Amino acid sequence: REGMTMGPLVAAIDQGTSSTRFLVFNAKTAELLSHHQVEIRQSFPKEGWVEQDPKEILQSVYDCMERTCEKLGQLHIDVSHIKAVGVTNQRETTLVWDKETGEPLYNAIVWLDLRTQSTVERLINKTPGKSKNHLKHKTGLPISTYFSAVKLRWLMDNVEEVAEAVLTHRAMFGTVDSWLIWCLTGGKSGGVHVTDVTNASRTMLFNIHTLDWDPELCRYFGVPMEILPKVKSSSEIYGSMNSGSLAGVPISGCLGDQSAALVGQMCFQDGQAKNTYGTGCFLLRNTGVEPVMSDHGLLTTIAYKLGKDAPAYYALEGSVAIAGAVVRWLKDNMGIIRSSSEIEKLAGEVGSSYGCYFVPAFSGLYAPYWEPSARGIICGLTQFTNRSHLAFAALEAVCFQTREILDAMNQDYGVPLSQLQVDGGMTSNRLLMQLQADILCVPVVKPSMPETTALGAAMAAGAAEGVGVWSLAPGDLAAVPTERYQPQINTEESEFRYARWKKAVQKAMNWET
Ligand code: G3P
Repeated sequence: REGMTMGPLVAAIDQGTSSTRFLVFNAKTAELLSHHQVEIRQSFPKEGWVEQDPKEILQSVYDCMERTCEKLGQLHIDVSHIKAVGVTNQRETTLVWDKETGEPLYNAIVWLDLRTQSTVERLINKTPGKSKNHLKHKTGLPISTYFSAVKLRWLMDNVEEVAEAVLTHRAMFGTVDSWLIWCLTGGKSGGVHVTDVTNASRTMLFNIHTLDWDPELCRYFGVPMEILPKVKSSSEIYGSMNSGSLAGVPISGCLGDQSAALVGQMCFQDGQAKNTYGTGCFLLRNTGVEPVMSDHGLLTTIAYKLGKDAPAYYALEGSVAIAGAVVRWLKDNMGIIRSSSEIEKLAGEVGSSYGCYFVPAFSGLYAPYWEPSARGIICGLTQFTNRSHLAFAALEAVCFQTREILDAMNQDYGVPLSQLQVDGGMTSNRLLMQLQADILCVPVVKPSMPETTALGAAMAAGAAEGVGVWSLAPGDLAAVPTERYQPQINTEESEFRYARWKKAVQKAMNWET
C-alpha cells in the first residue's frame, strides 16, 4: 500500500460479552484493513452471578486500539487517516462509577446475570394480573433479570459505595457504551456522560415512544434521574478521544451490538432481518418507524436513529441468552474441547445427536418464554452417547432456539422470512450453518465479511454530521459476496426433531416439579 493515496478510514470499538475488538475500515469501500481482539474474563462469584471488571474492559479497548494502530503502521498506513470512531457494545450490562474519582464502584453486572431473579418475581407478583408485560407498553420489554433497571436497583440496595455515591450526587450509571465513551473522552476531567437510543431502550427506564428517560419508570425502580446519561442519536459527534494514538478523533457512532449488526447487514428496509450468533443469539427484524408490539414473546426495541434529526427505526427482537456461551461452557467447564473451533470437527464425527437434546438454559430462558427459573438439561442419553453427540446437541440447541424465535417473528410480523441473514463468530462453523438451514427449512445467507457489528458502528460514525466520510451507497454492499446454505433434510425430519426439542424445553422449564 506504500505510496497509495489513502482515503478516509473509520474505526470501531466492538466491546462484546466474550471479547473486545478494535477494527479499522476504509470508508469508501468498507474493506476491513486491520483489527485486534482481546478476550474478556467473566467471573461467576455465586451461582447465577456473572460479572466483569470495568477497568479490564477499558484496558482491553486501549490495548486493541494501540495494537491495531501498530498493525496499520506495519501496512504503512498513517493513523491520521482515521476520521472517526464508532462504539458498539454488549447491551444491558450495568455499571456505576464515581464521577469525581473516576473509579467503578462495583464490577459490571453482565446481562446474563440472574441475581435479580427474586426481585423480578416480586415485581411481577405485585402487578395487576401478575403480568411480566406490565411495563411493555412503554418499554417494549417484559420485566426480566435481563435488563439494566433491576441490576441498578440491586447495586443501590446492596453495595454501600453505590448507595453513598447516589446520596452524595457522585454516582454515574451507564451501560458499557456510556462507561467507555465517558472514559475515552476524558473521564473525571471532562468526559461526556452519554448513551444512544438503542442502548437506552434496553434499560427498562426508557420510553421507546417519547425517546427519553421516563420519570414514571424511574420512580417505579427508584432510580434518581440525575445518575442517567444523556440520550443521543446513534450517529452524531459525542466528544473526542482524549489520549492515545487517536487523541482528537471524534467519537461519532454508538449502537448496541445487535443494532449495529442490523445496520452493518444493511437491513434498512421494513421487514429485513438478521441473526447474530455471539455469546447469545439475537434475531432482529426492522419494522420501520412504527413500533410493533409482540404477542409471541418478542421484544420491541429501537433499531437505530442515524442522526439527531433522523427518525428512530424500531425492531422486533428475539433474544436467546446462550449460543456461543454453550461452546465456551463445553470448553471451560467440561473440558470436552480445548478451543471453541474444535466443536465443529467433534460434532461432525457423528453428524447427529442420536436422540440427545441439550437445553442450555443457564440463565433461565429468554424469548419466547421469559422464564428465569428454567435451568439447563441434557436428556435422551444412552450408553451409546459420547462427547461428539453432546457437541452436536449443543450446536443443534442454538439452531432450535433460533427456530423458536423465527416462528414467533413470523407470527408477529405476518410475513414469513424467506431466508435468514446471519453473522457473528459462530457463523464460521459450517456444520452449524447447514444445521440451521435444515432446522429452519429456509436458506441461511452469510456475508463473507463477518464483522458486520463493527461495520455498523463504523458506518454510523463515518456518516455523522460534521464527519461525513462514509460515502458508501446502500447498493454497494448489496454486491458483497455471500455464502448460502440450502436446507438439505426433508421437512418431516426437521419437524420431528423440533417437536422433541420442544418437549425438552418443557422439562427445562419445569425441572423442579
Ligand atoms: O443483549 C446482549 C447482547 O448485546 C450481547 O451480545 O454479541 O456479546 O452475545 P454478544
